[in-house]
Amino acid sequence: MIEKESVKLHELTFDLFIDKKEIKKRVQEMAEQINQDYAGRQVVVLGVLDGVFMVLSDLLKKLDISVSLEMVKLKSYQGENSTGKVHKLLGLNSNLKDLDVLVVEDIIDTGTTLGFLLDLLKTHQPKSIKIATLLLKKEIYHGRYPLDYIGFSIPNRFVVGYGMDYDGLGRQLPHIYAVQGQLQKA
Ligand code: IMP
Ligand code: MG
Repeated sequence: MIEKESVKLHELTFDLFIDKKEIKKRVQEMAEQINQDYAGRQVVVLGVLDGVFMVLSDLLKKLDISVSLEMVKLKSYQGENSTGKVHKLLGLNSNLKDLDVLVVEDIIDTGTTLGFLLDLLKTHQPKSIKIATLLLKKEIYHGRYPLDYIGFSIPNRFVVGYGMDYDGLGRQLPHIYAVQGQLQKA
């Protein structure tokens, strides 16, 4: 199933959308930009689980700055739709006061999850916060926070693979796939 042009997950079929080679190239470019911007500094990379694990792993291997890693686990999606409510399943343990924090996301959709995380982060009083996301659904992002590193701006289509899931399935796919026939979310 792993290298196919299309995959079926539950009742939906998904077509190849962004090939792993394109992903790899873009992650490399993002890493180069981050290395430049944080040169000589130490950064706390804060990954948002679950979906981020694959891009985070690939990105981290390309960073030659001094990095420590933190994870939070947040959930806003049920199936294909944002619920508008964010649940914190695993919180922040470390003290981030006066540290430079780089949030890394797999995908930003409405921005609800990001807003929730930034509110939480600000209570820690970090020195700076920047945001990196592999994918951005720019038509539906509410745009309240500037995004510092964007891998790909994509149309409003539901995607899976490279860490992202549809109701629990598809995270292990090396490419990114988009749901067939759906141009706008219902
Ligand atoms: P937001 O809160 O609406 O910005 O949604 C962000 C979170 O929802 C992401 O971190 C993903 O976990 C999930 N998500 C949003 N869009 C998709 C998608 O197209 N496929 C899979 N997960 C998604
Ligand atoms: Mg996520």
